[in-house]
Amino acid sequence: MVSPVRKMFDEIANRYDFLNHFLSCGQDVMWRRYCCRQMKKFCRDPQVFGGMRDISLLDMCGGTGDFARSFRKTFGDACVQAVVGDFSFGMLRRVRPKGIDAAAVQCDAMKLPFGEASFKMMLNGFGMRNVPDARGALQESFRVLERGGYLCVLEFFAPRNIFNRFFYGVLAPVFIPLMGAFFSGKRDAYVYLVQSIKRFLPVKDFCRIAEECGFEVAKVKSFNGGISYGVFLRKPAEASRG
Ligand SMILES: C[S@@+](CC[C@H](N)C(=O)[O-])C[C@H]1O[C@@H](n2cnc3c(N)ncnc32)[C@H](O)[C@@H]1O
Repeated sequence: MVSPVRKMFDEIANRYDFLNHFLSCGQDVMWRRYCCRQMKKFCRDPQVFGGMRDISLLDMCGGTGDFARSFRKTFGDACVQAVVGDFSFGMLRRVRPKGIDAAAVQCDAMKLPFGEASFKMMLNGFGMRNVPDARGALQESFRVLERGGYLCVLEFFAPRNIFNRFFYGVLAPVFIPLMGAFFSGKRDAYVYLVQSIKRFLPVKDFCRIAEECGFEVAKVKSFNGGISYGVFLRKPAEASRG
């Protein structure tokens, strides 16, 4: 049976990019760019698998490929292979027409069709709060990542401060579904979007779970006063607990 989340992304795929940029006032582009530049900084460390060369990337829950595109732009020729993984075919089929140089692979974040240590770098943009179990997705990411490799999770975590609670509690439940309905005709998907943020883990709890899965937390970056976060996780170079 097709999961309701997958069905929902299939249905909103044609308006996804536009609404993403519109609802975030273009900030999503800046957040992805920051994350990719930070990943590049990590890579420059000669301790990390020889620095900036032969980088393989898996952009998991990659949707229409914007995060992979930003990564490719940042890494240039150093990125020798990029894969966008997602379970929604509707989202994935937009990767190639956008001219993104990446293979689109339909797969489930909870059970990745890749062997151990297949990728040096991983991204997960706004996907973690959509999977049935963040711990399971982290464990799978840990497995397919090389030792010393990094996973960047860009996400809206459960709002903590007063401003964000007000925004997600009062403004967003009205404004976001209204705009979603107007531009995509899919109000329910945008009701889900707000609910999924309120229901998701606070960033601290997410980091604790990532550590329990064997990751080291390399950096946590808050964007726009905690509206979203970039969480940078490293698979230890030496023997892991995962
Ligand atoms: C909010 S979109 C993010 C897309 C893209 N990463 C971005 O930055 O715009 C979330 C994506 O996660 C995908 N997704 C959700 N659960 C998934 C799962 N269990 N396995 C694979 N993809 C999943 C959805 O299909 C959707 O494309």
